[in-house]
Amino acid sequence: MLRMDDSTKGMASNYNSNDDYQAAIAEAGAAQMRQLVADALMDPARLARSNQNSVVLCDYGCATGQNSIKVLGSIAQEVCTIEPDTQVTCIHNDLPTNDWTDFFTALQADGTYLTDSGGAIPMVSARSFFEPSVPTGTVTLGFSGSAAHWLSSQPTVKSPGCCYPPLVAGSAGDELRQMAAADWLRFVTARAADLAPGARMQVQCLATNIDEGGHPQPAGGRLLRGVWAVIDGMVSDGLVAQDAADLYVLAVYPRTTDDFLAPFVDGPVAESFEVLAHDIALVSSPYSVKYQSDKDASAYAKDYTGFVRGFSESSLREHLLHTDALVDEFFERFRVRNEADPTIDAYDDCYEMTLQLRRTA
Ligand SMILES: C[S@@+](CC[C@H](N)C(=O)[O-])C[C@H]1O[C@@H](n2cnc3c(N)ncnc32)[C@H](O)[C@@H]1O
Repeated sequence: MLRMDDSTKGMASNYNSNDDYQAAIAEAGAAQMRQLVADALMDPARLARSNQNSVVLCDYGCATGQNSIKVLGSIAQEVCTIEPDTQVTCIHNDLPTNDWTDFFTALQADGTYLTDSGGAIPMVSARSFFEPSVPTGTVTLGFSGSAAHWLSSQPTVKSPGCCYPPLVAGSAGDELRQMAAADWLRFVTARAADLAPGARMQVQCLATNIDEGGHPQPAGGRLLRGVWAVIDGMVSDGLVAQDAADLYVLAVYPRTTDDFLAPFVDGPVAESFEVLAHDIALVSSPYSVKYQSDKDASAYAKDYTGFVRGFSESSLREHLLHTDALVDEFFERFRVRNEADPTIDAYDDCYEMTLQLRRTA
């Protein structure tokens, strides 16, 4: 039986209105991928194949679609410019529990690649990206933005005082690190199955920077310390059980460069990929940038809380809070805390990996 990955059930229903950060990442990534797809079209392994007039683009972790549809649409447009007679298929992948109704609503809005030109065929793949997710060897260009840092399943290790896997100390921290390594190997093994020889893949996701002193700086460390502070307050007020809080982590793991590159150094998929480029960069938080210019603490706290709710609500509801009332209480406390001090949980440590791979022949 296929195991059901359960670290998240998908993004909150308001994700499309609270994704400024992910949208900035996706926009920057799309520019790089237009070049990457041009390279994939000219790859000798593709040119040697007979079905050259078909190009398949796949976005792994598409959520409710706003960014995914724009990114794949712009790459499809690039393919049409280079090869006007080529049939482009855009596959949007996410978990079966993703809000696919919101996705299809977004796809039918004005100005998408479907409603504007109608040239590319949209398809969805409702399967965990830790498994092969499309017919074997069909993808020409794969992409994953702001998604591959999710672990496959909800950890069950005790981590008192901390709800962020890269910050968990001791043997529990080791267990989480091993889980992240195993999941990354599963992710790239599944892509080795999906991608055609000569295909390209770009992964953009949260990362851990190593500073000059050799200290790890995981993306979002301050944000997740704030999440823990709110959980801790709810424990103190008798709203959440201590045992449940001690077991809860947001199942996201920002990896280091070494973690990302490990599967390509040796192991079962080392021969299947060539690493074309990798870079960890600090991305600025649109919420802090706006606050610095308008000093509107109330707007900052509302927007920032909306962003945090977009990606964390499903995890908090499923694995800790369980009721609408407690979920609302949690985010109201987070909002109040950030309005009182707009620097307290600021997302000013957003390290993002951009990794480009070529599927070898
Ligand atoms: C923050 S959203 C990013 C969405 C989109 N790529 C963007 O840039 O706006 C992360 C997405 O990854 C998806 N995801 C997490 N684990 C997944 C898995 N195992 N398989 C497929 N999708 C997954 C979530 O459901 C969510 O929709």
